[in-house]
Amino acid sequence: MADEAIDFLRPQKGSVILDATVGCAGHAEKILEKISPGGFLIGIDADRESLAIAEERLKNFERASYTLLHGNFRDMDRLFEKLNIKRIDGALFDLGISSYQLENPERGFSFGRSGFLDMRMDKSNPLRAYDVVNKCKREDLENIIRDFGEERYFRRITGAILEERKTRSIKTTKELADLITRAVGGRYRSQKIHPATRTFQALRIAVNDELKSLEGAISKVWNFLNCGARACIISFHSLEDRIVKRSFKELAKNERALILTKKPVVPSEDEKRENARSRSAKMRAAEKK
Ligand SMILES: C[S@@+](CC[C@H](N)C(=O)[O-])C[C@H]1O[C@@H](n2cnc3c(N)ncnc32)[C@H](O)[C@@H]1O
Repeated sequence: MADEAIDFLRPQKGSVILDATVGCAGHAEKILEKISPGGFLIGIDADRESLAIAEERLKNFERASYTLLHGNFRDMDRLFEKLNIKRIDGALFDLGISSYQLENPERGFSFGRSGFLDMRMDKSNPLRAYDVVNKCKREDLENIIRDFGEERYFRRITGAILEERKTRSIKTTKELADLITRAVGGRYRSQKIHPATRTFQALRIAVNDELKSLEGAISKVWNFLNCGARACIISFHSLEDRIVKRSFKELAKNERALILTKKPVVPSEDEKRENARSRSAKMRAAEKK
Protein backbone atom coordinates (compact mmCIF):
# COMPACT_ATOMS: atom_id res chain seq x y z
CA MET A 1 0.00 0.00 0.00
CA ALA A 2 2.95 2.33 0.58
CA ASP A 3 3.80 2.37 -3.12
CA GLU A 4 0.16 2.69 -4.15
CA ALA A 5 -0.34 5.62 -1.79
CA ILE A 6 2.67 7.39 -3.26
CA ASP A 7 1.45 6.66 -6.81
CA PHE A 8 -1.82 8.39 -5.95
CA LEU A 9 0.08 11.43 -4.67
CA ARG A 10 2.04 11.74 -7.95
CA PRO A 11 5.01 13.56 -6.37
CA GLN A 12 7.14 15.33 -9.01
CA LYS A 13 10.64 16.76 -8.91
CA GLY A 14 10.31 20.02 -7.04
CA SER A 15 6.99 19.19 -5.29
CA VAL A 16 6.27 20.27 -1.73
CA ILE A 17 4.73 17.27 0.07
CA LEU A 18 3.36 16.91 3.58
CA ASP A 19 3.85 13.56 5.28
CA ALA A 20 1.54 14.22 8.22
CA THR A 21 2.48 10.96 9.99
CA VAL A 22 6.15 10.67 9.10
CA GLY A 23 6.85 7.99 11.76
CA CYS A 24 10.17 6.31 11.00
CA ALA A 25 10.19 7.86 7.50
CA GLY A 26 9.51 4.76 5.37
CA HIS A 27 7.10 6.67 3.13
CA ALA A 28 9.06 9.91 3.47
CA GLU A 29 12.19 8.30 2.07
CA LYS A 30 10.32 7.13 -1.04
CA ILE A 31 8.70 10.53 -1.47
CA LEU A 32 12.04 12.34 -1.14
CA GLU A 33 13.53 10.10 -3.83
CA LYS A 34 10.77 11.29 -6.18
CA ILE A 35 10.76 15.01 -5.36
CA SER A 36 14.54 15.54 -5.19
CA PRO A 37 16.22 17.63 -6.37
CA GLY A 38 14.35 20.81 -5.71
CA GLY A 39 11.43 19.39 -3.72
CA PHE A 40 10.62 19.81 -0.04
CA LEU A 41 9.14 17.29 2.38
CA ILE A 42 7.44 18.38 5.58
CA GLY A 43 7.25 15.50 8.03
CA ILE A 44 5.08 15.80 11.13
CA ASP A 45 4.82 13.33 13.98
CA ALA A 46 3.52 13.47 17.54
CA ASP A 47 6.23 11.06 18.65
CA ARG A 48 9.71 12.46 19.29
CA GLU A 49 11.33 9.00 19.39
CA SER A 50 10.05 8.21 15.89
CA LEU A 51 11.26 11.60 14.64
CA ALA A 52 14.79 10.78 15.86
CA ILE A 53 14.69 7.54 13.83
CA ALA A 54 13.33 9.43 10.82
CA GLU A 55 16.16 11.98 11.11
CA GLU A 56 18.73 9.17 10.98
CA ARG A 57 16.99 7.46 8.05
CA LEU A 58 16.86 10.61 5.95
CA LYS A 59 20.41 11.75 6.67
CA ASN A 60 21.64 11.00 3.15
CA PHE A 61 19.19 13.47 1.63
CA GLU A 62 20.16 17.11 1.32
CA ARG A 63 19.31 18.76 4.67
CA ALA A 64 17.50 21.62 2.97
CA SER A 65 15.10 19.21 1.22
CA TYR A 66 13.08 18.27 4.31
CA THR A 67 12.01 19.32 7.76
CA LEU A 68 10.78 17.14 10.60
CA LEU A 69 8.34 18.74 13.00
CA HIS A 70 7.09 17.55 16.35
CA GLY A 71 3.37 18.08 16.87
CA ASN A 72 -0.15 16.96 16.14
CA PHE A 73 -1.09 17.12 12.46
CA ARG A 74 -4.28 18.95 13.43
CA ASP A 75 -2.04 21.91 14.28
CA MET A 76 -0.50 21.99 10.79
CA ASP A 77 -1.59 25.59 10.23
CA ARG A 78 0.46 26.75 13.23
CA LEU A 79 3.43 24.60 12.19
CA PHE A 80 3.27 25.83 8.58
CA GLU A 81 3.06 29.45 9.66
CA LYS A 82 6.40 29.16 11.44
CA LEU A 83 7.97 27.88 8.20
CA ASN A 84 6.08 30.35 6.04
CA ILE A 85 4.51 27.51 4.03
CA LYS A 86 1.39 28.68 2.23
CA ARG A 87 0.75 25.89 -0.31
CA ILE A 88 1.56 22.19 -0.70
CA ASP A 89 1.41 19.82 -3.68
CA GLY A 90 0.22 16.74 -1.83
CA ALA A 91 -0.43 15.27 1.60
CA LEU A 92 -0.15 11.78 3.01
CA PHE A 93 -1.73 10.54 6.24
CA ASP A 94 -0.77 7.00 7.29
CA LEU A 95 -2.82 6.86 10.47
CA GLY A 96 -2.51 4.95 13.72
CA ILE A 97 0.70 3.71 15.28
CA SER A 98 3.85 2.30 13.72
CA SER A 99 5.38 -1.15 14.21
CA TYR A 100 8.15 0.65 16.11
CA GLN A 101 5.62 1.99 18.63
CA LEU A 102 3.59 -1.22 18.81
CA GLU A 103 6.60 -3.46 19.32
CA ASN A 104 8.22 -1.35 22.02
CA PRO A 105 6.73 -2.63 25.33
CA GLU A 106 7.57 0.61 27.14
CA ARG A 107 5.11 2.49 24.96
CA GLY A 108 2.27 0.38 26.34
CA PHE A 109 0.33 -0.12 23.10
CA SER A 110 0.51 -3.89 22.89
CA PHE A 111 -1.19 -6.59 24.89
CA GLY A 112 1.31 -9.07 23.41
CA ARG A 113 4.31 -7.36 25.03
CA SER A 114 3.67 -6.31 28.58
CA GLY A 115 4.53 -2.78 29.60
CA PHE A 116 3.16 0.12 31.61
CA LEU A 117 -0.26 1.25 30.31
CA ASP A 118 0.94 4.37 28.52
CA MET A 119 -0.32 4.51 24.87
CA ARG A 120 0.68 8.15 24.34
CA MET A 121 2.04 8.99 20.91
CA ASP A 122 3.18 12.30 22.37
CA LYS A 123 4.83 11.89 25.75
CA SER A 124 4.18 15.51 26.63
CA ASN A 125 0.48 14.66 26.76
CA PRO A 126 -0.36 14.24 30.48
CA LEU A 127 -3.13 11.67 29.91
CA ARG A 128 -1.97 8.03 29.81
CA ALA A 129 -4.07 4.88 29.30
CA TYR A 130 -3.30 4.15 32.98
CA ASP A 131 -5.22 7.30 33.95
CA VAL A 132 -8.21 6.41 31.78
CA VAL A 133 -8.36 2.82 33.06
CA ASN A 134 -7.82 3.65 36.74
CA LYS A 135 -9.46 7.04 37.18
CA CYS A 136 -12.41 7.36 34.77
CA LYS A 137 -15.96 7.15 36.08
CA ARG A 138 -17.95 4.05 35.08
CA GLU A 139 -20.07 5.96 32.56
CA ASP A 140 -17.08 7.58 30.83
CA LEU A 141 -15.18 4.31 30.61
CA GLU A 142 -18.24 2.53 29.19
CA ASN A 143 -18.67 5.25 26.58
CA ILE A 144 -15.00 5.08 25.55
CA ILE A 145 -15.00 1.28 25.19
CA ARG A 146 -18.37 1.25 23.39
CA ASP A 147 -17.82 4.22 21.06
CA PHE A 148 -14.10 4.00 20.26
CA GLY A 149 -13.78 0.21 20.47
CA GLU A 150 -17.18 -0.70 19.03
CA GLU A 151 -17.00 -3.36 21.75
CA ARG A 152 -20.36 -5.01 22.43
CA TYR A 153 -19.23 -6.26 25.84
CA PHE A 154 -18.33 -2.74 27.07
CA ARG A 155 -20.44 -3.08 30.23
CA ARG A 156 -18.96 -6.40 31.24
CA ILE A 157 -15.38 -5.15 30.62
CA THR A 158 -15.97 -1.89 32.50
CA GLY A 159 -17.53 -3.85 35.35
CA ALA A 160 -14.45 -6.08 35.60
CA ILE A 161 -12.12 -3.05 35.57
CA LEU A 162 -14.09 -1.30 38.32
CA GLU A 163 -14.15 -4.47 40.42
CA GLU A 164 -10.34 -4.79 40.12
CA ARG A 165 -9.88 -1.11 40.98
CA LYS A 166 -11.52 -1.72 44.38
CA THR A 167 -8.41 -3.58 45.54
CA ARG A 168 -5.55 -2.44 43.29
CA SER A 169 -4.74 -0.34 40.26
CA ILE A 170 -4.20 -1.89 36.83
CA LYS A 171 -0.68 -0.99 35.77
CA THR A 172 0.38 -3.05 32.76
CA THR A 173 -0.96 -4.01 29.35
CA LYS A 174 -0.78 -7.67 30.35
CA GLU A 175 -2.78 -7.13 33.55
CA LEU A 176 -5.48 -5.37 31.55
CA ALA A 177 -5.50 -7.91 28.70
CA ASP A 178 -5.74 -10.82 31.17
CA LEU A 179 -8.56 -9.12 33.02
CA ILE A 180 -10.49 -8.56 29.76
CA THR A 181 -9.89 -12.16 28.71
CA ARG A 182 -11.26 -13.38 32.04
CA ALA A 183 -14.28 -11.10 31.65
CA VAL A 184 -15.21 -11.91 28.03
CA GLY A 185 -12.76 -14.51 26.70
CA GLY A 186 -15.34 -17.22 26.08
CA ARG A 187 -17.46 -14.87 24.01
CA TYR A 188 -14.53 -14.23 21.67
CA ARG A 189 -13.70 -17.92 21.14
CA SER A 190 -15.15 -18.05 17.65
CA GLN A 191 -13.66 -14.68 16.58
CA LYS A 192 -10.31 -14.04 14.94
CA ILE A 193 -9.25 -11.20 17.22
CA HIS A 194 -7.90 -11.22 20.78
CA PRO A 195 -10.62 -10.29 23.32
CA ALA A 196 -8.63 -7.18 24.32
CA THR A 197 -8.20 -5.81 20.77
CA ARG A 198 -11.22 -3.52 20.76
CA THR A 199 -10.66 -2.16 24.28
CA PHE A 200 -7.01 -1.40 23.50
CA GLN A 201 -8.07 0.42 20.32
CA ALA A 202 -10.61 2.41 22.33
CA LEU A 203 -8.07 3.47 24.96
CA ARG A 204 -5.53 4.50 22.34
CA ILE A 205 -8.10 6.62 20.51
CA ALA A 206 -9.17 8.29 23.78
CA VAL A 207 -5.62 8.95 25.02
CA ASN A 208 -4.51 10.51 21.73
CA ASP A 209 -7.82 12.15 20.81
CA GLU A 210 -7.36 10.48 17.43
CA LEU A 211 -10.77 11.02 15.84
CA LYS A 212 -11.01 14.75 16.54
CA SER A 213 -7.44 15.20 15.33
CA LEU A 214 -8.29 13.54 12.03
CA GLU A 215 -11.48 15.54 11.48
CA GLY A 216 -9.67 18.79 12.18
CA ALA A 217 -6.74 17.90 9.94
CA ILE A 218 -8.73 17.02 6.81
CA SER A 219 -10.51 20.34 6.73
CA LYS A 220 -7.24 22.19 7.40
CA VAL A 221 -5.18 20.39 4.78
CA TRP A 222 -7.69 21.36 2.11
CA ASN A 223 -6.84 25.02 2.66
CA PHE A 224 -3.18 24.33 1.90
CA LEU A 225 -3.43 22.02 -1.12
CA ASN A 226 -2.84 23.59 -4.52
CA CYS A 227 -5.56 23.00 -7.13
CA GLY A 228 -5.00 19.54 -8.61
CA ALA A 229 -2.97 18.45 -5.56
CA ARG A 230 -3.98 15.25 -3.83
CA ALA A 231 -4.48 13.96 -0.30
CA CYS A 232 -4.14 10.29 0.41
CA ILE A 233 -5.27 8.80 3.74
CA ILE A 234 -4.58 5.27 4.98
CA SER A 235 -6.74 4.26 7.93
CA PHE A 236 -6.78 1.14 10.05
CA HIS A 237 -10.24 0.92 11.55
CA SER A 238 -13.78 1.69 10.54
CA LEU A 239 -14.16 4.78 12.76
CA GLU A 240 -11.28 6.53 10.97
CA ASP A 241 -12.39 5.34 7.54
CA ARG A 242 -15.89 6.69 8.18
CA ILE A 243 -14.46 10.14 8.98
CA VAL A 244 -12.32 10.14 5.82
CA LYS A 245 -15.21 8.99 3.64
CA ARG A 246 -17.61 11.56 5.13
CA SER A 247 -15.11 14.44 4.95
CA PHE A 248 -14.22 13.72 1.31
CA LYS A 249 -17.94 13.49 0.43
CA GLU A 250 -18.62 16.83 2.08
CA LEU A 251 -15.71 18.46 0.22
CA ALA A 252 -16.93 16.96 -3.07
CA LYS A 253 -20.48 18.18 -2.41
CA ASN A 254 -19.10 21.70 -2.00
CA GLU A 255 -17.15 21.33 -5.28
CA ARG A 256 -13.85 21.48 -3.42
CA ALA A 257 -12.72 17.91 -4.11
CA LEU A 258 -12.80 15.18 -6.68
CA ILE A 259 -12.91 11.76 -5.03
CA LEU A 260 -10.39 9.42 -6.68
CA THR A 261 -11.33 6.24 -4.83
CA LYS A 262 -15.07 5.45 -5.04
CA LYS A 263 -14.32 2.40 -2.89
CA PRO A 264 -11.32 2.33 -0.55
CA VAL A 265 -8.16 0.65 -1.85
CA VAL A 266 -7.30 -2.40 0.28
CA PRO A 267 -4.08 -4.45 0.45
CA SER A 268 -3.56 -7.41 -1.86
CA GLU A 269 -3.82 -10.95 -0.47
CA ASP A 270 0.00 -11.20 -0.73
CA GLU A 271 0.49 -8.04 1.31
CA LYS A 272 -1.99 -9.23 3.93
CA ARG A 273 -0.08 -12.51 4.23
CA GLU A 274 3.29 -10.75 4.50
CA ASN A 275 2.16 -8.06 6.91
CA ALA A 276 -0.65 -9.06 9.26
CA ARG A 277 -1.07 -5.46 10.47
CA SER A 278 -2.01 -4.34 6.95
CA ARG A 279 -5.14 -6.55 7.01
CA SER A 280 -7.45 -3.77 8.12
CA ALA A 281 -5.85 -0.96 6.07
CA LYS A 282 -8.04 1.15 3.77
CA MET A 283 -6.79 3.95 1.58
CA ARG A 284 -8.83 6.83 0.18
CA ALA A 285 -7.60 9.64 -2.04
CA ALA A 286 -9.08 12.90 -3.28
CA GLU A 287 -7.92 15.82 -5.41
CA LYS A 288 -8.37 19.50 -4.64
CA LYS A 289 -10.64 21.23 -7.14
C1 LIG B 1 1.46 4.09 10.78
S1 LIG B 1 2.66 5.16 11.47
C2 LIG B 1 3.37 5.94 10.07
C3 LIG B 1 4.52 5.21 9.49
C4 LIG B 1 5.23 5.98 8.41
N1 LIG B 1 4.36 6.20 7.27
C5 LIG B 1 6.49 5.26 7.96
O1 LIG B 1 6.60 4.98 6.77
O2 LIG B 1 7.35 5.02 8.79
C6 LIG B 1 1.71 6.48 12.12
C7 LIG B 1 2.50 7.58 12.75
O3 LIG B 1 1.65 8.69 12.88
C8 LIG B 1 1.85 9.32 14.11
N2 LIG B 1 0.59 9.99 14.41
C9 LIG B 1 -0.63 9.44 14.56
N3 LIG B 1 -1.55 10.39 14.78
C10 LIG B 1 -0.91 11.59 14.75
C11 LIG B 1 -1.33 12.93 14.89
N4 LIG B 1 -2.60 13.26 15.14
N5 LIG B 1 -0.41 13.90 14.75
C12 LIG B 1 0.89 13.60 14.50
N6 LIG B 1 1.35 12.33 14.38
C13 LIG B 1 0.46 11.34 14.49
C14 LIG B 1 2.23 8.22 15.06
O4 LIG B 1 3.00 8.70 16.14
C15 LIG B 1 3.02 7.27 14.14
O5 LIG B 1 4.40 7.55 14.20
